[in-house]
Amino acid sequence: MMAVAAAQKNREMFAIKKSYSIENGYPARRRSLVDDARFETLVVKQTKQCVLEEARQRSNDVPSDNVEAVEERVPGAEPEVVPSTQEVQDYQAAAESQEEQVPAVEVEDIEEPELTSDPSDNHEVPQDADLTEEEMILANAASESKEAEQTIQKAALVLKMREGIGSLARILKTIENFKGTVTHLETRNSKQEGMQFDILVRVDMSRQNLLLLIRSLRQSSSLAGVTLLADNSVSIKDPWFPRHASDLDNCNHLMTKYEPELDMNHPGFADKTYRERRKKIAEIAFSYKYGDPIPRIEYSPEETSTWTAVFNMVLDLMPKHACMEYRKVFKMLQDDGIFKPDRIPQLEEMSAFMKKHTGFTLRPAAGLLTARDFLASLAFRVFQSTQYVRHTSSPYHTPEPDCIHEMLGHMPLLADPSFAQFSQEIGLASLGASDAEIEKLSTVYWFTVEFGLCKEAGQVKAYGAGLLSSYGELLHAISDKPEHRPFEPAKTAVQPYQDQEYQPIYYVAESFEDAKDKFRRWVSSGMSRPFEVRYNPHTQRVEVLDTIERLENMMSQLNLEILHLNNAYNKLKNTTLA
Ligand SMILES: [Fe+2]
Repeated sequence: MMAVAAAQKNREMFAIKKSYSIENGYPARRRSLVDDARFETLVVKQTKQCVLEEARQRSNDVPSDNVEAVEERVPGAEPEVVPSTQEVQDYQAAAESQEEQVPAVEVEDIEEPELTSDPSDNHEVPQDADLTEEEMILANAASESKEAEQTIQKAALVLKMREGIGSLARILKTIENFKGTVTHLETRNSKQEGMQFDILVRVDMSRQNLLLLIRSLRQSSSLAGVTLLADNSVSIKDPWFPRHASDLDNCNHLMTKYEPELDMNHPGFADKTYRERRKKIAEIAFSYKYGDPIPRIEYSPEETSTWTAVFNMVLDLMPKHACMEYRKVFKMLQDDGIFKPDRIPQLEEMSAFMKKHTGFTLRPAAGLLTARDFLASLAFRVFQSTQYVRHTSSPYHTPEPDCIHEMLGHMPLLADPSFAQFSQEIGLASLGASDAEIEKLSTVYWFTVEFGLCKEAGQVKAYGAGLLSSYGELLHAISDKPEHRPFEPAKTAVQPYQDQEYQPIYYVAESFEDAKDKFRRWVSSGMSRPFEVRYNPHTQRVEVLDTIERLENMMSQLNLEILHLNNAYNKLKNTTLA
């Protein structure tokens, strides 16, 4: 749990702290998940660099007496020694407060390896500036408080040993002197020339001592390399990702807090009343927690009239241009009294409708979320939906998603089982993905969920929410002006997209099933993530399939499903034959 908390903390550390506004370099163009993902990559990179620089600085601020105590012994002029417990204690900033003495190791008792005569053959003494990212993160975590410094960290070290296995005893003694507990030890013959062994040693020890241990080991001439690895359950560096639907309470990083206030091109920029309204609605999303019912919004007659205008436009276009799945659910929503021309649906009633059909639910979002957070929620069959209405001055265009776009564009298809599954697959693929992969997934999302076309009885129909809720772009997309290409995730994911005008290229899926198959194949062959995840709808938890026990659980569930399938097939066959 500690490791999970540490990983989450690291994510917070690297999370967006920069507003996605014009003055921060965010382009004042149509907002999209793709641009946002790119901007996020850039900001995360800058923030990360900044955090690491600060940690590096702090690391260099370690009291010089302590550093010298070790560095004096480094350069090969003196025999290598194991720092005794007393030295370790001197080495620690809190040495004076530690009364308990660990028996000191007599230097004379340790058989020292012969030193090379040429000092240049000695190992390199790492300077603080050479500390790895893992060490910087660790140093940063330790520097937060005295308590954080003494927090026990699980860690794994890989040591490259020049000497024989004999020097292992000395290393273990050093770990002991730093009050570390060895929980696992593995050796293997080194594949590297000039090295004898590689050792993997897992230790539990305070963060402060772990950093000191690493420095101390690096000064040993018998070691050619010391690498800090992460704890094997959760990496201290890997991106945190939500494991349970309730973790989505932490996945609401916004692109901008109040877009109309920041963007002069926003239709509501000069309208104080509109900006106040947006703030009020945004508060609902900011205070929303997992399991809460979504508060109602009393939409004004002005907001409702904007809805009516767009709703009637969709009613006009839908029969001819929307895909069959969209038309089917749209009718169901009309039959249930949720889609009406004179009333904006509430998020809560729409959420209940979708839950009944595909298990998708809604969470209120204050605006455009970061691509990583938005995609992550899809993994849990949760769609983060805005609740505000676009500015009344431009009913047919909005530079950002609003609840009219969400309701008329996204909701009908999220209530279709096949499309819901496709959306969830994108979400699952995003968990633990690199920033570059998030950009690719956002691009796939853009060209499918937002602007996708599909084939239907020899004709091209729209299924993308951006098309189905935008009259102009829909007519452009199905005309002969743009190029229509078959959906191929590997190509689609790197296709530059147009955000100033309508797209010059649209991707056409054979069917949702076909799109899902292709997407799955691409994800399993093209993503760097070294693990597989699966969503458990009973617990609303994402399981990382990395243990035999979890695989056995999955196999037993699949066996049960196969049994039901087999029974159903036999019963149906017997009935048909009878
Ligand atoms: Fe959208």
